[in-house]
Amino acid sequence: MAITLSVIKADVGGYVGHSESHPDVLAKAGECLAKSKKEGLLVDYHVTKCGDDLQLIMTHQQGEDSEKIHKLAWDTFVDCTQVAKELKLHGAGQDLLSDAFSGNVKGMGPGVAEMEFEERAAETIIIFMADKTSAGAWNMPLYKIFADPFNTIGLVIAANMHTGFAFEVHDVKEHKKITFNAPEEIYDLLVFIGAPSRYAVKAVYHRGTSEIAAVSSTQRLSLIAGRYVGKDDPVCIVRSQGQFPAVGEVLEPFTLPLLVEGWMRGSHHGPLMPVTVEDSTPSRFDGPPRVTSLGFQLSGGKLVGPRDMFGDKSFDNARQQANDIADFLRRHGPFEPHRLPLEEMEYTTMPQVAKKLEGRFIDLD
Ligand code: F6R
Ligand code: MG
Ligand code: MG
Repeated sequence: MAITLSVIKADVGGYVGHSESHPDVLAKAGECLAKSKKEGLLVDYHVTKCGDDLQLIMTHQQGEDSEKIHKLAWDTFVDCTQVAKELKLHGAGQDLLSDAFSGNVKGMGPGVAEMEFEERAAETIIIFMADKTSAGAWNMPLYKIFADPFNTIGLVIAANMHTGFAFEVHDVKEHKKITFNAPEEIYDLLVFIGAPSRYAVKAVYHRGTSEIAAVSSTQRLSLIAGRYVGKDDPVCIVRSQGQFPAVGEVLEPFTLPLLVEGWMRGSHHGPLMPVTVEDSTPSRFDGPPRVTSLGFQLSGGKLVGPRDMFGDKSFDNARQQANDIADFLRRHGPFEPHRLPLEEMEYTTMPQVAKKLEGRFIDLD
């Protein structure tokens, strides 16, 4: 059975500040999606949050980029924004960059990751969601999951994975894409995806079967809006087991609290801390950045789950390390590399300050 899994997310208001989502907003989203399920548009859905981001996880048979599904997501965000406005939540409706829906939420603020596939006899799915970071945060984890044998032993010893995976990489600034084959092109691949603020892994495909293995949201809010409006806070769907990496191989990269951009005012590097949905409450210096992971089995499109995968105690060390790294980085205060380089900062007073001091700069000898 062909099924489409769509994860569409937006920050429609934070509680308190940018640290969490309000239960009334989540409840409103649940109401909207329940209605669509009753009417038969959705096969199933799960509403969740990652920090201040509202996450709509939906299964249906409308295919990718369906106007009906995108409109449902948009209308849900609009209704939830109304709730956020009534509660005077912070930044109510901040990710809805347009007043009217025009066929597809892409380019309008919300983040989207969608994949259509034939549901396998056992279809294991892991959905990653992040807060206080940007598209590109998945580059290193996806590389490790699908191309690094030190992470994924299946690439070496499982016959159905030995052909490797293909990586579709987007240049988010120039709006171009390219596909690299792993393992033979990993050096070329890494030249690009090692620069995650510009190049983001959009999708990964199994090279033997051409089946979709992973897809991420790659929209960059600041590039769409031409100004800082909030962080991308991306999502990523990964298929697991069988010809795809096992659940443990999919989760393993997050034992490293990798440094990502997006902490405080979208202008600092911070460690990506793997947490449960409940613990996705970035409070310290508006962070540190968080990643959650929900696991599902699909049954005729029904979302059996979720299991909160980072609830496992084996991620305690990663969380401890993330806190230690956060302490270390915070001691750098306004200095790089805690603060992002000038051209990457989402907030800056540099033009105003430079203008004010223009006359005081004198030429060096
Ligand atoms: C939001 C974020 C926060 C805000 C900060 C200022 O994703 O990263 O650190 O940038 O709280 O928020 P505003 O400008 O909304 O008062
Ligand atoms: Mg926010
Ligand atoms: Mg957010």
